[in-house]
Amino acid sequence: MANGTHILVLPFPGQGHINPMLQFASRLASKGLKTTLVTTVFISKSIYSDHPIASTSFRTISDGFDEGGFAQAKSPDIYLSTFKSVGSQSLGSLIKELGDSGIPVHAVIYDGFMAWALDVAKQLGIRAAVFLTQSCAVNSIHYHVSRGLLKVPVEGSSVWLPGLPELKVWELPSLIYHHGSYPAWFDTIVNQFSNIDEADWVLVNTFYELEKEVVDWMSKIWKLGTIGPTIPSMYLDKRLKHNKDYGLQLLHPNTGACMRWLNTKPNGSVVYVSFGSLAEVGVEQMAEIAWGLIGTNAYFLWVVREPEEPRLPDNFKHMTREKGLIVRWCPQLEVLKHGSVGCFVSHCGYNSVLEALGLGVPMVAMPQWADQATNAKHVEDVWGVGVRALVDEKGIVRRETVKQCINEVIMGGERGNEIKKNSIKWKNLAIKAADHGGSSDKNIDEFVAKITS
Ligand code: UDX
Repeated sequence: MANGTHILVLPFPGQGHINPMLQFASRLASKGLKTTLVTTVFISKSIYSDHPIASTSFRTISDGFDEGGFAQAKSPDIYLSTFKSVGSQSLGSLIKELGDSGIPVHAVIYDGFMAWALDVAKQLGIRAAVFLTQSCAVNSIHYHVSRGLLKVPVEGSSVWLPGLPELKVWELPSLIYHHGSYPAWFDTIVNQFSNIDEADWVLVNTFYELEKEVVDWMSKIWKLGTIGPTIPSMYLDKRLKHNKDYGLQLLHPNTGACMRWLNTKPNGSVVYVSFGSLAEVGVEQMAEIAWGLIGTNAYFLWVVREPEEPRLPDNFKHMTREKGLIVRWCPQLEVLKHGSVGCFVSHCGYNSVLEALGLGVPMVAMPQWADQATNAKHVEDVWGVGVRALVDEKGIVRRETVKQCINEVIMGGERGNEIKKNSIKWKNLAIKAADHGGSSDKNIDEFVAKITS
């Protein structure tokens, strides 16, 4: 154990935040730190684990909604403000309790979405690192808004920010572009930067080679540590033999059915479709995706979460039983790694993008909200690992577009081949960054050295 140093890791209670931060905790544990992941009481009651993580301990705090979590709160506003007040007290009590029981906390790594955790740590005299769960590009945009350097609502049709390509307004994160759409979430993302200057470290889930220019620019403001991609080691550098999955799932994956089905399909013949844990795809859009999938020659594996099932066209499941498999949740990493998968139709949640990059799977980007439009812009125009399926004037991606984009990626041709080549290039660079002596590995070592000194 490096010096007996004990770190609390506090992700925001959602799958897309728990995954990268728990994975980072595993990396730190592999480097000798004692790590404890803190989830909310409600999340701790709902999680499912295939491979429990032995290297990290688990503790809980209250978000004020112990029986139902986010769904129990009447609105995001109520949830986020209650989490801040109840969570601050509960976190303070937990840190004191751990100290009293002989396992004092030496530092806290908190999710930027919970900026209040920094205030708690500072009041207790504990060092703290903020962990930014979104890309550096997206963080930079939110930072500019938080400091009034980018005015909202945004005027004009494009935005130029240091270290970033020209961004059309619709390529900005939706909370900026559709200013006023979700005020409580807007405050949360902008607040990440309200007290960040007091954090002892700023960690970002990216890797240097992926976002060089914007990382260089942001490094002039704070000492940034790029420590990603936070994908389980056995999918990347393979140095941590027990690190085979994220460890905690909020939904039960249908692993057996997915893998058995994929095993029967030829190499590169399957389109994997998923919109992550939060996006709510409407009835009309579901139908267009469904008909688009039917229109391609590819097989498909589509994750349709339970609340979305009634939005599928009538009889669709039965009609496509030869061609497709629909599940409520899947082991996404295993699916992306499977040789039969040739294309990922994704909402471009940041974890999904990093996973596709790290595993070399080309993408069709269908962003829904939050950071996803900016991620999609990078997927297509900056990293060249996919195509964007563009919406019509009603905001819907039509079936012809779905079909055309999938065909472009999966069937080869000049653009498809270029995308495949880039996907392999980024996969290798991601592995290199995480591997011994790589850019992220070095930054993690440096962080461990400082935190234990
Ligand atoms: C949210 C936001 O929507 C996203 O934009 C932000 O960048 C992070 O937080 P989410 O929508 O759930 O996350 O998407 P994503 O970031 O892609 O995370 C989803 C995670 O769930 C991934 O790690 C993925 O591997 C996992 N997953 C998804 C599964 O394990 N099985 C599935 O069937 C689908």
